[in-house]
Amino acid sequence: MIGINQFQKLPFKKKTVLIPVVAGFLGLVAYQARHADDRSWSIYKADAESTSYSPLDQINATNVNQLQPAWTHSYADMKEGSRAGSSECNPIIVDGVMYTTSAKHWAYAINAETGEQIWSFDPFDGAEGGGVSRGVTYWEDRSHSGEPDKRILFTGGDNLFALDARTGKPVPGFGENGRVSMNVGLRDDPASISVIPTSPGIIYKDLLIMGAEVSELYGAQPGYIRAYNCRTGKLEWTFHTIPLPGEAGYESWPKEAYKYAGGVNDWAGMSLDTRRGIVFLALGSPSYDFYGADRKGDNLYGNSVVALDAATGKYIWHYQTVHHDLWDYDLPAPPNLVTVKRDGKAIDAVAQVTKHGFVFVFNRETGEPLFPIEERPVPASRIPGEYASPTQPFPLKPKPFARQWMTEADLTHFTDAGHDSIVRKFRSMRYEGLFTPPDLKGTLMLPGSRGGAEWGGAAYDPASTVLFVKSNDSPEIQSMKKVDPEQEAKDQTVFDQGKTLYMTYCVACHGKDKNGDEPNYPSLIGLRSRMTREAALDKIKKGGGKMPAFASAIKGKEKGIIAFLYDRPQNSAKITKQETGQTQKGADKYLNLTAYGHFRDPQGNPALRPPWGTLNAINLSTGEYEWQVTLGNDEKRQASGAPETGQEGSAGPIVTAGGLIFISGTQDRKFRAFDKKTGKVVWQTTLPGVANATACTYMSGGKQYVALSIGGTKENPSGSVMAFRLP
Ligand code: HEC
Repeated sequence: MIGINQFQKLPFKKKTVLIPVVAGFLGLVAYQARHADDRSWSIYKADAESTSYSPLDQINATNVNQLQPAWTHSYADMKEGSRAGSSECNPIIVDGVMYTTSAKHWAYAINAETGEQIWSFDPFDGAEGGGVSRGVTYWEDRSHSGEPDKRILFTGGDNLFALDARTGKPVPGFGENGRVSMNVGLRDDPASISVIPTSPGIIYKDLLIMGAEVSELYGAQPGYIRAYNCRTGKLEWTFHTIPLPGEAGYESWPKEAYKYAGGVNDWAGMSLDTRRGIVFLALGSPSYDFYGADRKGDNLYGNSVVALDAATGKYIWHYQTVHHDLWDYDLPAPPNLVTVKRDGKAIDAVAQVTKHGFVFVFNRETGEPLFPIEERPVPASRIPGEYASPTQPFPLKPKPFARQWMTEADLTHFTDAGHDSIVRKFRSMRYEGLFTPPDLKGTLMLPGSRGGAEWGGAAYDPASTVLFVKSNDSPEIQSMKKVDPEQEAKDQTVFDQGKTLYMTYCVACHGKDKNGDEPNYPSLIGLRSRMTREAALDKIKKGGGKMPAFASAIKGKEKGIIAFLYDRPQNSAKITKQETGQTQKGADKYLNLTAYGHFRDPQGNPALRPPWGTLNAINLSTGEYEWQVTLGNDEKRQASGAPETGQEGSAGPIVTAGGLIFISGTQDRKFRAFDKKTGKVVWQTTLPGVANATACTYMSGGKQYVALSIGGTKENPSGSVMAFRLP
């Protein structure tokens, strides 16, 4: 059967010409009618190739400055006063209907022209929802005559749902009353695990191919790739991302690891070559993220691009971008399927952007690198039991888009005291550049675990063969500590004591999630980056302003309240899990006490001088940069007369035939359009909240729209989706 992907990428005008022929063949009656042009963004990131490219050009460099809000659809699925949600959803549009998810993880169908709601679906049956949802998948069944069966396949928590696209009601014939548990069909007892997909699956014929998010800690489940029958929900094939005995790649692990090792999951989405029937995975790190004594070896298919036969799940080729990962350098975005030019010939290729700042480009059929890649020696680990890989792959072209090296001269200087403190910290840490292993004395890590590239990934312009990618540039610190189970238990007791105190005396003003109620009661989140433990204890004892004094209430339990405000409870959870015997017996465990923590000065200022975020245009045929510009601005930290600071943000760019790139996601709440040839900002607007989500663009009623999910605010914690068009 021919998928709808065949004509997704035809430009609007050509498509209308082709409609009678193609539509006749496929019987797309509804498609022809009013919304003959609405399938240019019917898949996450535009199309099965994950190009984030749109052939639309009604909005272009000459008129984009007239772009204005067309409609805003505000969700109302969270209680008033809830903490503002963040939505990472990239909406899709089919036949004039936009399908999205909210921060609360509900699914919605919205009239793409007016913003009016058609239906909503709560996957949690009234329970608290949430978590990350990057969107939904559309599938239609044309195997019978008459109106096609149209479905929205979507995950809420650990369930995969099939909803009727017209009504939003679960489809009875799919799984159990429209739902399939993602916990079934992995390694361990489904009742004891929770596997939560965050990015939508991809359709090949009548299969929905799914990855999932699993834990990054000891005792995690393996991130097997699974294909479900779109009609029935039946599991049709499974690919073992951690190979079983007898499967290729098994030898890259300890013999028994397949029984206890976890991770190596595709949480960021996949791409599909419909014509060749090949699905391309972007796999994450093996667990535990930062210590691998129980996983000696390269750990295939961790951090690998893997090509599978989409019909059967059979292995075709792979390339591992990080051996034996110790940095949480997951492949963070679906690979982009591209076509590059070499010596006048077109080569179908696959480009993978990485958290550590590289673009790897491979021949799509063979996996052969299209630019040379060198295995270079990298620093050895000093942590007992660890087996850091002696070499790692370095592509010689394109040059890295992220900053991969810093010296003392790159440290920021906001205040003298702050500067002194980060200089001391910098000198105290182990740092030998990219791939310096985590260390007991602390390791500096650049790029950090948030990229380089993040889940927004890259956009690809087929006409110019240019790839556009956002880079985050922020160092992190990894401080490893050997786990003493007895000490852990003691720490847990102290922490629990503090939690009880907090829930008794502090929760009324500072909130159950410590997020406060600004401006009256400050949020206590991220306290460690702005206040020493001593200063906080002093404040708690003495009070001040509207804060009462608590010296007597906390007497004898000072350590507990501070632990609750400053320490990570999940460290303890990690140990309890691993003690269940899922991890290799007898191995010492080390934990990263500052995992995912930014390197900042005591005032909370970034330690690395700007820019902290860039947008990059890389020609994949030549491997050369067309341009690199700063993206985002932190006005408070911008020195007078200095260039913009750039900001972190995980949303991806989209690129259009109209010559534009649209991108949001930075904390300055800006939504910007860039000229794709020059990298100049040609339009920008300030959004009601941070739009930590990749935009989409589509035609409806003869007009081109650009739309995006926007996170919640204090006034509306549920967030919204907003669309723009020309007057
Ligand atoms: C009646 C409301 C209220 C209660 C109850 C309360 N606080 Fe506060 N808290 C405040 C206010 C208001 C401030 C800001 C005070 C100021 O600006 O001087 C504050 C400030 C703080 C700060 C400093 C935060 C910063 O960013 O400067 C800490 C730490 C803190 N509170 C901890 C606690 C703890 C722990 C408890 C419980 C033992 C608690 N508070 C109970 C109202 C409260």
